[in-house]
Amino acid sequence: MIHLTHASDISKSPSADVLVIPFWQHKTKVEPACIIKSFHQQLKPLLQTQDFVGKEGETLFFYFGKGKRLLLLGLGEEKKCTAETMRRSFALMVKAALKKKLSHLNILVPQTKKSFLKAVCEGMLLANYRFDRLKEETLKEEKSLLLSKICLIGTSKEEFKECEQLIPLISSVHFTRDLVNDNADKINAQFFSALAKEMAKEFGLKATILDKKYLEKEKMGLILAVNRGAAQDPAVILLEHRGNPHSKECTVIIGKGISFDTGGLNLKPTGGIETMKADMAGAACVFGTLRAAAELGLKQNVIGIIASAENAIGPNSYKPGDVYRSMSGKTVEISNTDAEGRLILADALSYAVQKLSPTRIIDLATLTGGILVALGEETTGLFSNHDKLAEALYQAGEETFERVWRLPIYPEYKDALKSTIADLKNAGGRKASSITGAIFLQQFVKEVPWAHLDIAGTAYLSEIKMPYHSTPATGVGVRLLIEFLQKLPK
Ligand code: BES
Ligand code: MN
Ligand code: ZN
Repeated sequence: MIHLTHASDISKSPSADVLVIPFWQHKTKVEPACIIKSFHQQLKPLLQTQDFVGKEGETLFFYFGKGKRLLLLGLGEEKKCTAETMRRSFALMVKAALKKKLSHLNILVPQTKKSFLKAVCEGMLLANYRFDRLKEETLKEEKSLLLSKICLIGTSKEEFKECEQLIPLISSVHFTRDLVNDNADKINAQFFSALAKEMAKEFGLKATILDKKYLEKEKMGLILAVNRGAAQDPAVILLEHRGNPHSKECTVIIGKGISFDTGGLNLKPTGGIETMKADMAGAACVFGTLRAAAELGLKQNVIGIIASAENAIGPNSYKPGDVYRSMSGKTVEISNTDAEGRLILADALSYAVQKLSPTRIIDLATLTGGILVALGEETTGLFSNHDKLAEALYQAGEETFERVWRLPIYPEYKDALKSTIADLKNAGGRKASSITGAIFLQQFVKEVPWAHLDIAGTAYLSEIKMPYHSTPATGVGVRLLIEFLQKLPK
């Protein structure tokens, strides 16, 4: 766990491996973005050259005196600076520090908008992450070398309090990333069930495990169908945070937890199957969000639902062309066993609607490859039957830079899911596949305000582009949902 402290000025700061000094890039010269009382003389010759111009994310180590080390950090042009500039620059700074195996940083914080300070810390904390659990013994010495102490110099007590709150939030993002990065063989429905119980104890949440027997009793035929080829039982897991016990308001968040998606009998090809351990990223996000909500003492009622199964191949696999009955009573013709996420979510949605009287439901799922085609790896797909809810999620996306973009769910798209022998089929073909996936889900939410976030592009990256990402798993959704929940009217 990282230790975050603050000091009013340098003379009161602890000893550290390096002092970080941020700079703005001006047209003709580079200028400190913070108050620096010392080092002027030492830095002058350097700043008169063009070796360091203060470009966004530019870093330069500077050595002088007895083992004194400075790290100059560029923030780009002051006029163009946004919260995201801060996240990225400070994340790049952390990466430069980690390369040198430094662990204690003193930071002169930029003198700029108050809200930017939070972004400074977010960038640093998000970048201070590695997933090396699966690396060879021989690499041990490189393992777990992360920052352990950061002192923010030049902040007030109130500003610092907000920054401190980021520690439980970002460690929940790391927790979500860990779940997604780890092996599919390990992170399955049984693991999730045990994890929920552990988390209930540790964070004061309430965990309820709906096991296979219960799913059978409640006739949740779609999740049972999807899991039929698997060696392990499926589970639906409830994780509850009662942050406002006197209110009936309740936000339900549902995560797709397919531990591995082979595609089923409609088997995925080489090139499509290798990343499918990440098909539980929605579930991982629900765990991370509930953990953060509990640790932050969020004053909202939130129930997380994790629907978990494995879409495997075996003699007992569910079959294309067959019809299965959902918890809602609607029957579904399986036109493609690879459209399994919407099936397990449909039963989870029915459960929420029938048993939990939710004020609103938000589901997160790595639902379609189509969303990668539409929005790439930079933007999450948003679908909703409720404009206000969609707008609030959009705003949370802008605030956190976990951006979402809304796509339509016009009723005309429903024709793609017509079946001749059942109430509907589960897949509508290639055209508008992300939309028809969302339309399928919508059939199970009735009138409840609902939003669906398709994170197939944003949860697990093919290449790392953002400085605050370092592994394929991003942990997307946790910061987004916490921001959304914090801004809900009390
Ligand atoms: N888990 C996949 C979606 C996915 C694809 C996630 C790529 C991450 C990266 C989902 O279960 C799936 O297979 N969807 C199909 C649906 C189709 C059969 C209607 C798809 O999008 O191809
Ligand atoms: Mn699939
Ligand atoms: Zn899937």
